[in-house]
Amino acid sequence: MAGSQAASCSSPTRTMSDVMKTYQHYINGAWVKPASGQYFDTDNPYTGEVWAQIAKGNTEDVARAVAAAKAAFETGPWAEMRPTARGKLLVKLAEIIEREAERLGELEVRDNGKLIAEMGTQTRYLAEWYRYYGGLSDKVEGAVLPSDRPGIFNYTKHEPLGVVAMITPWNSPLLLLAWKLAPALAAGNTAVVKPSEFTSASTLEFMELVKEAGFPDGVVNCVTGFGLDTGAPLVEHPDVAKVAFTGSDLAGQKIYEAAAKKIMPVTLELGGKSPNIVFEDADFEAAVMGAISGIFAATGQTCIAGSRLLVQRSIHDSFVKRLVEVAGEAKIGDPMSMDTHVGPVTTPPQYKKILHYINVAREDGATCVLGGKPYTGDGAKGDRFVEPTIFTGVSNEMRIAQEEVFGPILSVIPFDTEEDAIRIGNDILFGLAAGVWTSDIGRAFRMSDKLKAGTVWVNTYRAVSFMTPFGGFKRSGQGRESGQEAIKEFMQVKSVWIAQQTTAANPFIMR
Ligand code: NAI
Ligand code: MG
Repeated sequence: MAGSQAASCSSPTRTMSDVMKTYQHYINGAWVKPASGQYFDTDNPYTGEVWAQIAKGNTEDVARAVAAAKAAFETGPWAEMRPTARGKLLVKLAEIIEREAERLGELEVRDNGKLIAEMGTQTRYLAEWYRYYGGLSDKVEGAVLPSDRPGIFNYTKHEPLGVVAMITPWNSPLLLLAWKLAPALAAGNTAVVKPSEFTSASTLEFMELVKEAGFPDGVVNCVTGFGLDTGAPLVEHPDVAKVAFTGSDLAGQKIYEAAAKKIMPVTLELGGKSPNIVFEDADFEAAVMGAISGIFAATGQTCIAGSRLLVQRSIHDSFVKRLVEVAGEAKIGDPMSMDTHVGPVTTPPQYKKILHYINVAREDGATCVLGGKPYTGDGAKGDRFVEPTIFTGVSNEMRIAQEEVFGPILSVIPFDTEEDAIRIGNDILFGLAAGVWTSDIGRAFRMSDKLKAGTVWVNTYRAVSFMTPFGGFKRSGQGRESGQEAIKEFMQVKSVWIAQQTTAANPFIMR
């Protein structure tokens, strides 16, 4: 099994039975011990139990991984491989992912505590990114340009960038990696992946699948560790040509600054504070379910969470009443159980952050109408459960309405007119997504035009696809992932001029 090889350097004295694993870095097609000899724990958020040890990376490990990726890019089979052959490898990888989806889904749950009901579907679906970009690999075309220089032929071609660093967060490790890795490989780059320190295991096990698909050694590498020890030196490494990142706006800002020093392109996906806007003419029950899925799915730990619920004043009270009824019934507990609705928070710092924001909301005068405290009832283990929480009486200036919490906390904000909804919806630094619930088709178009967000959903929420560009306006990010545009994010255009005959012209005059 894939994990057994990853675990091959386990301590000979296994005190926590045979389930305890030790993971190394994956560099140049092999498992490599960390230069420091140090490891750190990863736990199961539901039980709080440490279940694996992860290699603690440093600058030396990063340098080895980047050197392997650089060599694979410049020499060897990958450098010579035609786009069609690259595409076939990606399609093969998609098939292997489908075969392994159940195991990968369970692994994600063990490490990040999200529901198996979600992660099982997600790990099956991520195969589509590899298949889609496998197909796109040989369809990126340059152009022959009309030339105004007699006797000189001019064309463009798209070339890969080189070594791409991919830095991912803990909420959907393999999916957010697929959004980066599939287009980057289709374009012919090589990769060094740095998963979140909280959820490195699934990405490491995934390396075995990359190998099985037949990607040459060095094309995809994985170094694990913390943001400052491992992520930062990876970003700063002179041989890294681009960084693709998903995570907090703070880390995104640091990465952007480091990239600026190297004049290096970045793709950044930095979360949001998305408005989910309900008009009085909406299908009431559909909008209630949409509002709940917008915030309580994944325990609120998603970049696209509809954390600001804007409700038209005429239906505000009845809408809140129904929200409280439905969310109050949510089954909280074991993420491996198919009928659980709300699981644990993934990390201890995230748990503290959520409880902190509950206090901030109260101090700023919001009214808590549901939850508002840790959950300790049936099904709760450990100390990482927060009750689904709803605040009313929120004004858009409050911190609870302006700052990303990344937890199951909903702020309800009333509005009167369509203009008010647009003004409040856009009055935020972020611009990742927005939801609109209405039965008026004209309003659906008007709102979609005016909302400043990379994605607008009307009468639905959360739809994402490999075929559809995804990314942020404003502080929510830079660049787009998925869809046809994303492959170009990992390429650069070259213009080639070829003289059809040589002439020894006067060299001192610009032509
Ligand atoms: P983070 O942004 O600190 O970590 C994300 C990744 O970046 C991890 O792999 C981390 O090791 C790496 N990293 C951190 N600092 C870095 C640096 N200076 N240079 C290079 N790499 C660096 O996110 P964290 O601490 O796990 O979560 C904090 C907050 O981030 C959450 O509360 C939430 O608001 C937001 N977040 C947003 C996500 C999104 O999907 N946009 C996903 C996860 C968190
Ligand atoms: Mg973990």
